[in-house]
Amino acid sequence: MRKRIYLNNEWKFKNEFDEDMIRAGYSDTSMELVRIPHTVKQTPFNYFDDAIYQMVSGYRRVFKADQTWKGKRIVLHFEGAAHEAIVYFNGEKLGVHSCGYTAFEFDITELIDFSGENIIAVRLDSRESLNVPPFGFVVDYMTYGGIYRDVYIEVTDKTYVSDVFVYTEVSDVFSDVTKENEITPKAIGAFLHARIKLAGDVKGCVITESLRRIAGEAPQDYKDEYAAEKELNKALANSENSFDYHTLPVILWDIKNPALYEFVVRVYRDEKLIDEKSEVFGFRNAAFKSSGFFLNGRKLILRGLNRHQSYPYVGYAMPASMQIEDARILKEELCLNAVRTSHYPQSQDFVSACDKMGLLVFTEMPGWQHIGDEAWKKQAIENEKEMIYQYRNHPSIIMWGVRINESADDDDFYSETNRVAHELDISRPTGGVRAATKMHLLEDVYTLNDFSHNGKTPGCIKKKQATPDMDKAYLVTEYNGHMYPTKTFDAEDTRVEHAIRHIRVMDAIAGENDISGGFGWCMFDYNTHKDFGSGDRICYHGVMDMFRNPKLASLSYEMQGDDHDVLELSSSMDIGEHPECIRGDIWLFTNADSVKMYKNDVFIKEYFPKDTPYKNIKRGPILVDDFIGDTLFENEKFSKSFADNVKHALNTAARYGMDKLTVGDKVTGAKMMLLHHMSVKDIVDLYQKYIGDWGGEATSFKFEAIKDGKVVKTITKETVKGISLETVVSHTELNEGKSYDVASVRFRVVDQNGNVLPFFAEPVRLKPEGAVEIIGPKTIPVRGGMAGTYVRSKRRQGSTGKLIIKLDAAGEKIRKEINFKINEEVGNNV
Ligand code: GAL
Repeated sequence: MRKRIYLNNEWKFKNEFDEDMIRAGYSDTSMELVRIPHTVKQTPFNYFDDAIYQMVSGYRRVFKADQTWKGKRIVLHFEGAAHEAIVYFNGEKLGVHSCGYTAFEFDITELIDFSGENIIAVRLDSRESLNVPPFGFVVDYMTYGGIYRDVYIEVTDKTYVSDVFVYTEVSDVFSDVTKENEITPKAIGAFLHARIKLAGDVKGCVITESLRRIAGEAPQDYKDEYAAEKELNKALANSENSFDYHTLPVILWDIKNPALYEFVVRVYRDEKLIDEKSEVFGFRNAAFKSSGFFLNGRKLILRGLNRHQSYPYVGYAMPASMQIEDARILKEELCLNAVRTSHYPQSQDFVSACDKMGLLVFTEMPGWQHIGDEAWKKQAIENEKEMIYQYRNHPSIIMWGVRINESADDDDFYSETNRVAHELDISRPTGGVRAATKMHLLEDVYTLNDFSHNGKTPGCIKKKQATPDMDKAYLVTEYNGHMYPTKTFDAEDTRVEHAIRHIRVMDAIAGENDISGGFGWCMFDYNTHKDFGSGDRICYHGVMDMFRNPKLASLSYEMQGDDHDVLELSSSMDIGEHPECIRGDIWLFTNADSVKMYKNDVFIKEYFPKDTPYKNIKRGPILVDDFIGDTLFENEKFSKSFADNVKHALNTAARYGMDKLTVGDKVTGAKMMLLHHMSVKDIVDLYQKYIGDWGGEATSFKFEAIKDGKVVKTITKETVKGISLETVVSHTELNEGKSYDVASVRFRVVDQNGNVLPFFAEPVRLKPEGAVEIIGPKTIPVRGGMAGTYVRSKRRQGSTGKLIIKLDAAGEKIRKEINFKINEEVGNNV
C-alpha cells in the first residue's frame, strides 16, 4: 500500500556546495544540522541586503531504507526548494528543478540501497542571477533561498495511480438565493468528472472509486438515500486512463459551508488491493461572467487581499501550522472571501486550508513584470504546468493566472500559456495580471491592477476603460499598495487615510455592476529589494504588519464580516496628535446595528450604518460628527434652533478648524456676540466646555455597539492610566509531527481599556524554556504598539515549554508566561 515517509529532520546544511557531498565518504562535520522547512539564511527584521541569501548551498541527508520497501516503487519528493535544485542520490544526479514555488520528485527505485546508507545531496542555487522566473529584472519582494517546504519519500506498488484529476459540473440555476451569505446547500444534478491515470504494468488491473463527504453540513431536507457520500464502488474499465462521470445530489462547496468530498481510487490485481489514492475536492460552480463573479449561481463580489508567503527572519520557511494560520487570519480576522497568492503558487497547506475554510483563491505562475529569453519562457511554461497539475483539485481555486504579473503583451508566449491551462484544466478560466488597460486579451478574464485611486480620484476605473472586451469578465487584482504605504507607527491621520482608501476602492468596485471584485495590496508588510519600499527593505503596504498585527485598514475589511462583533474608532481622541489640534475625520468601523456615543458618560448621539457616506459597499465606516449632542441646548440659554447652529459651528471648528467655518457658522458667531452679548472669551470658553481643546481638560469618550437591542461591544477612549500587554497566540499545543511546529505570538501594548498604544516603543524581552526556542531575536522592539515572535518546538527535548515575556512599561514591570505542550512526533519519519 501507498505510504508517505517524511524526511524533514536530520538534514545537514552548508552555505556552499562541495561536489564531495554527493558521495558516501564525505565528512559532514563542517555542515550544520538543520530541519526542513529551512531557510539558507536567517535575516534581520529590516535593513538587510538580499545578497545574504543569494548563494549556492549544499544539503545532505543520509537514511537507511526500510526493508518493507523492497520490490516497491520509491519516489523522492520535494514540495519546494528555492530556486534551482540539482538533486543527487547515492552519487547519481537525478535531475534539476528550476522553480522555487512548485513541487518536484524523482524516482529512486533503482538507486536505493537496502544494505547500507542512502545519501541525498542537493546543490541549491538561490541566486537571483538564475535565468528563471521571477528573475531577470527587479522584483518587489525578497525571494529567499532554502528547502523550505516538506521533503518526503513515497512508496507505492510498481503499478500505481499516478494522477487523479477530479472536477465538477454544477449548473448555476440556484439563483433563488438572494442574500449574499445564504446559500442553497443542495444541488441537483451535479456532475463528477474524474481523470485517473495509472502507471506501471496496468494489464489486468481493476479500478474502483468511492466518494465520501468529509466536511460541510447537510441541509435539513437532505435525502440520505441519494447522498453522494454513499459508496459508489463502481468497477471501471481495465484501462490505463479512464474517464467517467456521475450525476449526484450533493452539498455544494461554498464560502459559508465549504463541503468537501474525498474521491478515493483503488487499484486491484487478482482481487488484491495494490494501490489507493485519495483526493479532496468540492462541488461548486464558480463562474466569471461579463456581469461579475458568481458562486453557485449567486453573484458574489470578490473581497480579497494579496498574500505573499513570507515571514520575518525565516523568509519562506514556515511549517503547515503557520500557513494555515494565515488562511485563518484572512477568513476569520479579516473576514475576506478571497485571496490572491501573489505572485506564485503557495504552500499546499495554505491552499488546503482555504478549501476547508471557504476562501476563494486566485493563484498564478511565478514572475514579476519581466519576460526573459526563450529558455526562460520554456521554464515559465514548465512552472505553469506544474502549478496546474499540482493544484487543480482544490475547490478553492477559481482561476489560473497565466501571465507573468504585470508583464508586457507577448502573444506567442501567452497564447501558449492559455492553451496549456485549458488543456490541463477544462474546468477553470484563465486570467493574467496586467498593469495597463486595454492590453491584448487572450484570457477569459481581464485582470488589472488598478492603482488609479490616489486619495482624490474615484476608487476605481470603469470596466469599459479597462478591458478591450466587454463580453468577458473583469476583475481588479490589486489596488492601493505603493499608492499609500502606511506604518503601524505613522501619524494617526496617515493610518486613517490608509483605511479609508481601502474603503473607497471597495465601495467604488461595489458600485459598478460589472466588476467581479477586487484584491487589495496587500495582507501584510513584506521584506523587499533595495529598489522598493521605505529604504529599510520593507514595503509597508500591508493592512497588517509583518507579524500579522492589524493596522486600522484591517478594520475596513473586518467590518464587512458577520461572524464576530466589530467596533473600532479611527482616533485615539488625543487632539494633540493632529496638526493645529484639528481632529479631522473620525470614523466608526462597525458591523453593529447602531453605535451610541457618550462623552464623559453623557449621551451624545446614536450613529447608524445608513449614515455612512459609502453607500455601495456592504458596510461603510460612519463619521463621528457631533461632540456635543443636546448638552448645549440643555445647559445654555439658547433656543433649540440656535443651539443647533452653535453646535454646528463648534463641531465644524473642532473637526476642520476655524478657516473651514461655513458662512452660516460665521453668522452664528456674529449672533452670539451681537444678540447674546458674548465676548470672544465667552465663545472660547463655550468651545472649551463642549469640545475641549489644547489646554482644556482631557475628555472621556465611550462608544457602544448595539446589536438586536443589546450592547455587544464597547470602546472607551480616555487618558492612559495603565499599560498592559496582550498576547495573541496561534496555538499552545505544538506537534512534532512531520517536522517542527511553530506558534505565532502577537503582542499588543494596550491601555486600561484595551486600546493599542501606537507610540509605545519599548523592547519586549523573551526567554524560552524547555522544549521550545525563539525564531529571531530575543529582544524585540514594540513597533506601533505591537510586536510579534515565533515559538518553535525542539525535537526530543521533552513535552513542555514556556515563553517568558518581560516588558517595562511606564515604570511597571510586566511579566507574562505562555505555556506550551509539545506532542512528540508520531511515526512517518525516517
Ligand atoms: C504592483 C505589483 C506588486 C506590488 C505592488 C505594490 O505593481 O504587482 O507586486 O509591487 O505593485 O503596490
